[in-house]
Amino acid sequence: MAPSLLSADFGRLAEAVRFIGEQGGDLVHVDVMDGAFVPNITFGPKAVADLRPMSRIPFDVHLMIRDPESYVEQFSQSGADIITVHYEAAIHLHRLLQKIRSLGRKAGISIVPSTPVETLSELLPFADLVLVMTVNPGFGGQELIAGCLKKVEKLSKWKKEEGYRYLIEVDGGINRNTIGPALDAGAEVIVAGNAVFKSQDPAAEIRILRGEERPRQ
Ligand code: DX5
Ligand code: ZN
Repeated sequence: MAPSLLSADFGRLAEAVRFIGEQGGDLVHVDVMDGAFVPNITFGPKAVADLRPMSRIPFDVHLMIRDPESYVEQFSQSGADIITVHYEAAIHLHRLLQKIRSLGRKAGISIVPSTPVETLSELLPFADLVLVMTVNPGFGGQELIAGCLKKVEKLSKWKKEEGYRYLIEVDGGINRNTIGPALDAGAEVIVAGNAVFKSQDPAAEIRILRGEERPRQ
């Protein structure tokens, strides 16, 4: 379970990172947006570096930026534990994933809803994580596109058949109603922004999404 800082109060990000760690989050999901790959702008490497000491749990840094090759070193130095780049944002992804690994970080690859998952076939052996976007990236609080879960099913099947090591992550529109189908499809890492931070009780929502508490109706 990876709560996303995108839906937190940006004036109190340090508190949000501490909160995620203390309330049972497994990862801190950090959405880096450049205003070019997606129509929104968020955090750069300095924000990640300044927030990193606020918790010991891993930082899952999702780069929604053009030209990710030019920035992975900076995000690695900032303390990102997982660095995920978009298939649609770079050409030499085989080299890029290996570069991320050579920096001692976990290498993730992500696809937007319009990209078929089959296109990742040559990269799967080199990925530590595959992030399936279940909304069009750029904003929190959107509705999950159910058809994207088919991609999760395929990744799960290929993982079993081929013995791949990647974790399967879903991102976008996950809440207490959509998490079941995502887990059934084979998702292993669940990102949730609005479901956690726009909840009346964010700590209880993390427990509900982790399956530790039943929702009160
Ligand atoms: C969207 C981001 C997501 C976002 C998800 O482009 O990649 O990580 O925070 O937000 P929710 O869970 O509200 O859809
Ligand atoms: Zn994300």
